[in-house]
Amino acid sequence: MKLIDGKAIAAQIKQEIALEVSQIKAAGGKTPHLAAVLVGHDGGSETYVANKVRSCEEVGFKSTLIRYEEDVTEAELLACVNRLNNDADIDGFIVQLPLPKHISEDKITEAIDYRKDVDGFHPVNVGRMSLGMPCFLSATPAGIVELLKRYKIETQGKHCVVLGRSNIVGKPVSMLMMQKGYPGDCTVTVCHSRTKNIKEICLQADIIIAALGVPEFLKGDMVKEGAVVIDVGTTRVPNSNTKSGFKLTGDVKFDEVAPKCAYITPVPGGVGPMTIVSLLRNTLLAGKKAIYS
Ligand code: GUN
Repeated sequence: MKLIDGKAIAAQIKQEIALEVSQIKAAGGKTPHLAAVLVGHDGGSETYVANKVRSCEEVGFKSTLIRYEEDVTEAELLACVNRLNNDADIDGFIVQLPLPKHISEDKITEAIDYRKDVDGFHPVNVGRMSLGMPCFLSATPAGIVELLKRYKIETQGKHCVVLGRSNIVGKPVSMLMMQKGYPGDCTVTVCHSRTKNIKEICLQADIIIAALGVPEFLKGDMVKEGAVVIDVGTTRVPNSNTKSGFKLTGDVKFDEVAPKCAYITPVPGGVGPMTIVSLLRNTLLAGKKAIYS
């Protein structure tokens, strides 16, 4: 069994990005600039956004954090999106999700200029991704395929089972895994909460991407020998033995599944660290006008 070290790969890619940024700056080019909009004080969102801003600084980007209280109106947030769309210094920006119930996430996402949508959530980017066209790929699917590439894991003709059909992971990663070329060319099965015989389907999988958000869902007896298992789960399970009061728990019962795998990602330290790197890469591409001019 080989552990896929997302933390180490993410650190390596960050160095690659930092080098490119220093070369851009040395040549008199524009410093990539990412803005993040954070509404309210959700603990998870606060941590994610703080990590994104810190990572920008580490690679030499400019970053701007815009905060609103929980009671911000949809109109105010749309006005903010509009300002960022028209701010020539901002190359890309994200609005951290989830948003309060009184604000439509769809409306906000659609209002973002797709050329600055470094989250890859805008329908234009999602559509282009599904057509195999150049686009901003969303962070988690991009992080997963990058891990497969860096570990040179074979995908052609393999049976890839995706657990979960969310718009941000399950749906896009299933598209990427079935696409022509590498890493793709898989036969993909997508399972979800209404799927029958999940265990039997998982037992046929060469690659399992677990993105259900159900802690320790995938057990040892659901995985065949030699499978590749990518764990996307990051549920905060209460735990009195940790300083934070919770333990980040994946969708895979690691102790049971790992001994059967050819490769497996741990939680934490697997897919998680790769997601921020994907955002940095998109921001770099946005700064270089590499996808949209
Ligand atoms: N909430 C959870 N993950 C993400 C993400 O990748 N981007 C944004 N904007 N919000 C999120």
